[in-house]
Amino acid sequence: MNVYDAIMARRTIRKFTDRKIPQEDLIKLVDCARVAAYGANVQPLKFAVITDKDKLNDIYPFTKWAGYLTDGAPKENERPTAYIAVLGDTSIKQNGNFEVEAGAAVTTIMLEAVELGLASCWLGAIARDEIKNTLGLDDKLNVVYLLALGYPKQESRMAEFKGDIKYFEDENGTINVPKRPLEEILIKL
Ligand SMILES: Cc1cc2nc3c(=O)[nH]c(=O)nc-3n(C[C@H](O)[C@H](O)[C@H](O)COP(=O)(O)O)c2cc1C
Repeated sequence: MNVYDAIMARRTIRKFTDRKIPQEDLIKLVDCARVAAYGANVQPLKFAVITDKDKLNDIYPFTKWAGYLTDGAPKENERPTAYIAVLGDTSIKQNGNFEVEAGAAVTTIMLEAVELGLASCWLGAIARDEIKNTLGLDDKLNVVYLLALGYPKQESRMAEFKGDIKYFEDENGTINVPKRPLEEILIKL
């Protein structure tokens, strides 16, 4: 798969099968984030891979899913089989702002996940302090995002933008994600 195809194929998936992700694939995803572009090459992020069943269950209540859908959250048997927690190391970057770095890291991971046949959902609507406590993280590490991972039990595709940015589920259960057209976002000078 080439990079363009991975970019176009990647869609957020929120329902997963119970198939486990090989540990080496999860480590490979973190290794991809390791070499992403970071401002001034500071590299202030750490990553925690969570696959332990109890920890997955403990974290789930601190996540929110698919705000535009009534039934968009995974059922108990559809939950992610792994999370990668993206953590900001305040001993490396003191101002506590890790959004840009985390964006580069998560995007990089999500694209490699496509190549590995994995589905992912970037989670920002999370209870960060509760997750930090649940994982028993060192005080210097801030939870920035979670990336939920697994094998897909749902389909999602790009849809034509008709004036509404809200994704929706169609009669086949497929998620449709409207993307603004190129003509709208490309400013001609
Ligand atoms: C910063 C950020 C935070 C997000 N947080 C959540 C979240 O908490 N829950 C969720 O279900 N989806 C979340 N998403 C996924 C978006 O809803 C999704 O990327 C968007 O609808 C576009 O769909 P696509 O990823 O398939 O292109 C988040 C995405 C981003 C970039």
